[in-house]
Amino acid sequence: MESNNQLAFYGGNKTVDKQFQWPIYDEAEVNAVAEIVRSGAWANPNCDGLVAEFEKEFATYCGTKYAITCVNGSVAIRLALMACGVKPGDEVIIPPYSFIATASVVVEANCVPVFVDIDSDTYNLSVLEVEKAITPRTKAIIPVHFAGQACNMDAIMDIANKHNIKVIEDACHAHGGEYKGNKLGSIGHAGCFSFQSSKNLNSGEGGIIVTNDEDLANMVASLRNVGRVKGGQWYEHHFLGCNYRITQLQTAILSLQLTRLEEQTRKRNENGIYLNSLLLSIPGIKPLTRGHGETVHTYHIYIFKYDKAYFNNISKKEFAALLAAEGVPSFMGYPEPLYKQPVFLQKNFMCYALPEHVDYTNVCCPNTEQACYEEAVWILQHAMLGTKEDMDSFAEAIRKIQRIVLSES
Ligand SMILES: Cc1ncc(COP(=O)(O)O)c(C=O)c1O
Repeated sequence: MESNNQLAFYGGNKTVDKQFQWPIYDEAEVNAVAEIVRSGAWANPNCDGLVAEFEKEFATYCGTKYAITCVNGSVAIRLALMACGVKPGDEVIIPPYSFIATASVVVEANCVPVFVDIDSDTYNLSVLEVEKAITPRTKAIIPVHFAGQACNMDAIMDIANKHNIKVIEDACHAHGGEYKGNKLGSIGHAGCFSFQSSKNLNSGEGGIIVTNDEDLANMVASLRNVGRVKGGQWYEHHFLGCNYRITQLQTAILSLQLTRLEEQTRKRNENGIYLNSLLLSIPGIKPLTRGHGETVHTYHIYIFKYDKAYFNNISKKEFAALLAAEGVPSFMGYPEPLYKQPVFLQKNFMCYALPEHVDYTNVCCPNTEQACYEEAVWILQHAMLGTKEDMDSFAEAIRKIQRIVLSES
């Protein structure tokens, strides 16, 4: 394995000199798209044909009765929330260690995002904190299976059932992940996925909602298709939906990508377990804990904790830059919790109104702040499709950085 005494950031050789391909496709995808282009049937106003076929395939894959596609993962969560029957001013519990959409769609649904801290071992919602945050106004929880690691779904469903609260899984990182043998997304009242280009199942953009609840499925299907209903007329609009339809081109790609997903997920999961075993032996590096019943982790992101005390006190930001320069597809992840975003601090919600008493300037979730400011480093999913030797080289890159920065102390 290549290693030398100068950091790649400062001109030394990279430890990992390899490009990791993403997306992965072949002539099958090219031909499928070409066929649609030639057919001229690019749009799909009735969401039938290839769109309906993919929805059936994805529902079967997740083990749910229904799957409804839409334009992206953000809209998927918003439609699921609306279809659950939330009302203006209802509170929705979310983690602050997530992509902006987990929080912004709550405001777009006229509800109040309530930020609840993550568990420091898994970076998923802390169930103890969820329990404490429940009020008579709480109407939904959005557990995010962050990075592809399952949330503690038994505990979350128990809390939800006890308080009559809906659970919408944000499974945008978690296609193919499993909790106690069940596919992530299939456990709550609804599960939402993104098909944006970085995601483990991808068509450039796109999203889907899975559920076993027929009424919820019908409402989501209506909301994504300008409020039309099954059996209704073209110019007959029952609900305040919009055009959130996916295209045939996207679903043609998705059907083919789905045939690759199981093997890719197996590979990432296997590499993740192996990389955990390697990183555990590096002082100051700690992989996140696996296991609140998860049986398959999708490693949409491989996260490890960094402790600068073992790296001559260089900040995590600097460490992450050194690691990326060594050729590991990685970065420092979210620099801040969601509640620190100007949109929440200043309540820049435009036409969306939140009750006066809501104030995000006082929110503090210590585990999330620790993850953002001090410790979380991300390796990206396409790198987790590498070989065992690639995982060895990722660990070697970290050891190299440690050796050199410590020698300079
Ligand atoms: C956790 C999470 N939720 C929701 C989304 C939104 O998905 P999209 O970008 O498809 O709208 C993302 C996208 O990155 C995400 O990471």
